[in-house]
Amino acid sequence: MFRKGKALWFLMVAGLFALLLVGCTNDTSSEPNETGDDQTEETDTAEETTGSGEINVGIVLPTRDEPRWVQDEQRFKDALAGSSYTTEILFSQGSSANELQNVETLISRGIDVLIISPHDGDAAGAAAQAAAAEGVTVIAYDRLITSTDAVDYYVTFDSFAVGEAQGQYLIDHAEGTGVPLYLYAGASSDNNAFLFFEGAWSVLQPKIADGTFVIANSSEAEALSANAELSRDEMGRILGQVTTNWDPNEAINKAQTHLTAAGDDLKGDVAILAPNDGTARSIADVFATDSDITSFVVTGQDAEMASIQYIIDGQQSMTVFKDVRRLVEDAMGMAVTILDGDTPETTGAYDNGAKEVAALQSEVIVVDQANVEAELIGSGYYEASDFTGLE
Ligand code: BGC
Repeated sequence: MFRKGKALWFLMVAGLFALLLVGCTNDTSSEPNETGDDQTEETDTAEETTGSGEINVGIVLPTRDEPRWVQDEQRFKDALAGSSYTTEILFSQGSSANELQNVETLISRGIDVLIISPHDGDAAGAAAQAAAAEGVTVIAYDRLITSTDAVDYYVTFDSFAVGEAQGQYLIDHAEGTGVPLYLYAGASSDNNAFLFFEGAWSVLQPKIADGTFVIANSSEAEALSANAELSRDEMGRILGQVTTNWDPNEAINKAQTHLTAAGDDLKGDVAILAPNDGTARSIADVFATDSDITSFVVTGQDAEMASIQYIIDGQQSMTVFKDVRRLVEDAMGMAVTILDGDTPETTGAYDNGAKEVAALQSEVIVVDQANVEAELIGSGYYEASDFTGLE
């Protein structure tokens, strides 16, 4: 459904790069804002590092505190090396106020295109509106900006398929019936958290209904377990109980609380739906220290380096590999098309609550011990020397 002609795309982008004759290359990136939440500090950082020249494309990422987004920054830098257009990458450090400030800074630098992965999908509407008001084209990157018509395009992975793959992995590795199922989810402020959960639920629910799994840690999920499809409000109720807020520490606390509350019937061989790698490693560490847990299967996503090592070592069962090189190519290809005055190719649309946002979507790959080397080393995504224990 969301496939696109790769060769055609390559030709198109190559042609557009050649046509684009703007000034000097200036792929700069903001310094890490180590202290995080302080709005003024991040704004100072942005202003210090942007200098005074014009930039064509502004890129705003949610936080440097998660390897996922540092990875995106690096992939943007790799893709932009030697290119003839100017960009700036800024981080919002988990703050919508910083995000708005960063976008305003970029607008003042004359950007024509904004590529933004929002910290909070609804709150980012203000930043998108500020950009749109200045005639800037807004591309939501990986996370959708919601409840505003000020977003023009969405470049994303198939997030429903991410959750579906996680749920299916648990099903494929469950033995017998009555397997305790621990559910965890991302932050409710992130539209993706709903898509991931929805995808997982679509395959897990029939297996809860037929007794393969028994929900271990969410009374809301138990109450809704007969429903094949959940409304956003219903999912919101479950997320309210099992969210990690994308925070590894919150994931640790929740997992500890759940295991403390669980009786013997909810221990033994268990399945764990963990929404991403950062939280998966935290949750896995907690489950690994409970002597009443005999074994666990735990999901993840992002193919973070630390989780690849966990998979090699048998501490995390799987991850969903989202090839960020591809997402960056798609986003920059779209930006260049727009700068050139053309309409970018899209392959579908996402309803953001205010409009159908034209979207370009890419596929994901399930990775576990069986294919980790082929998918991540073989594809050149990582070096074998980044890990121990690989043949
Ligand atoms: C992204 C994931 C990421 C999570 C936490 C989601 O929107 O799609 O790749 O792990 O946010 O940052």
